[in-house]
Amino acid sequence: MTTNKAISRPEPDNPYALIGSSPLMKQVYRLISKVLHSDANILLTGETGTGKELVARAIHEYGHRRTQPFVVQNCASLPDGLLESELFGYKKGAFTGADRHHQGMFDAANNGILFLDEIGDLPLTLQAKLLRVLQEQEVRPLGDTQYHKINVRVIAATHRNLEAMVALGEFRSDLYYRLAHFPIELPALRDRGDDIQKLAVSFLDESARREGRTGLHLSAAAEKALQSYDFPGNVRELKSMIERAILLADDTEIIERSHFPNIPETNTFSVGSASPHGGVLKELVDRFERQLLIDSLKKYRGNQQNTADALGVARRTLLYKLSKYNINSRDWRG
Ligand SMILES: Nc1ncnc2c1ncn2[C@@H]1O[C@H](COP(=O)(O)OP(=O)(O)OP(=O)(O)O)[C@@H](O)[C@H]1O
Ligand SMILES: [Mg+2]
Repeated sequence: MTTNKAISRPEPDNPYALIGSSPLMKQVYRLISKVLHSDANILLTGETGTGKELVARAIHEYGHRRTQPFVVQNCASLPDGLLESELFGYKKGAFTGADRHHQGMFDAANNGILFLDEIGDLPLTLQAKLLRVLQEQEVRPLGDTQYHKINVRVIAATHRNLEAMVALGEFRSDLYYRLAHFPIELPALRDRGDDIQKLAVSFLDESARREGRTGLHLSAAAEKALQSYDFPGNVRELKSMIERAILLADDTEIIERSHFPNIPETNTFSVGSASPHGGVLKELVDRFERQLLIDSLKKYRGNQQNTADALGVARRTLLYKLSKYNINSRDWRG
């Protein structure tokens, strides 16, 4: 993070270094501008790959806590006991193996921001503890007898439907209301119109620079195909697709339609119209499978073997599926 960037005025078209100027993104920028200088907790929702973590980082970089820590904790990646000691810390001797004092994430984020990713995966016992911390702004490390004050702004994120989880009794309603004090929903890429084109060009430039290539551009047919694709993996998927297309187009400057082999020929999805896939079993199953793969990769920090083991498939099956869904396991290596 550079302080320069943090104090410069956001560009009107590309505020907070986020790309996109569709009406839905402009609404997101308006919401960000309202919370930037407050201490309200924020709940970021939206499908996988829509930019929740990027927005959380932007709120830190451009907000009044920018010189203070930004700490990330993924609530899905640790077993319950470990997550508790990561969040709240522990005293030496608190349990077998606690041979030294360990600072928790809330203390590490003091005066700054704690980004709680995958908050929908927080177990109910820890939900109660988190609620108390948010209400009282104080924590008690495991093995400690005393609570101590902290000053932490929490930004939580999830791709799950927390309201539905509340209705099912899987998520505490009191915690939900406290976190959802200021909700920001990140739109799906397929609903962002021309942003697809803007993001594609930006990723193309970025990858071309990295690969030392010049003059790369998209053919009209390639642009049209991107515009018509429904991007279940959203911006992350678009980025992976562009990176792969550049590798495939190693003997030409023009990125063609054929360099996006995962876009089905029959894909006639168009922004603004109802999805032609709605209710089609294969589409729903694919979406579910994609989300499961992403959740597992996140949990095992991009480790393919552990992910394959957890899903009970051979590594080559996992690789095949990652390629089918344009998922890059490197995106989750911490
Ligand atoms: N508006 C944007 N401008 C530029 N890059 C973006 C934008 N939105 C997302 N990205 C890029 O897309 C990728 C995914 O974004 P991010 O990790 O923030 O998504 P997410 O919503 O947290 O996904 P998940 O739910 O899977 O954790 C990142 O590489 C990010 O930099
Ligand atoms: Mg994320």
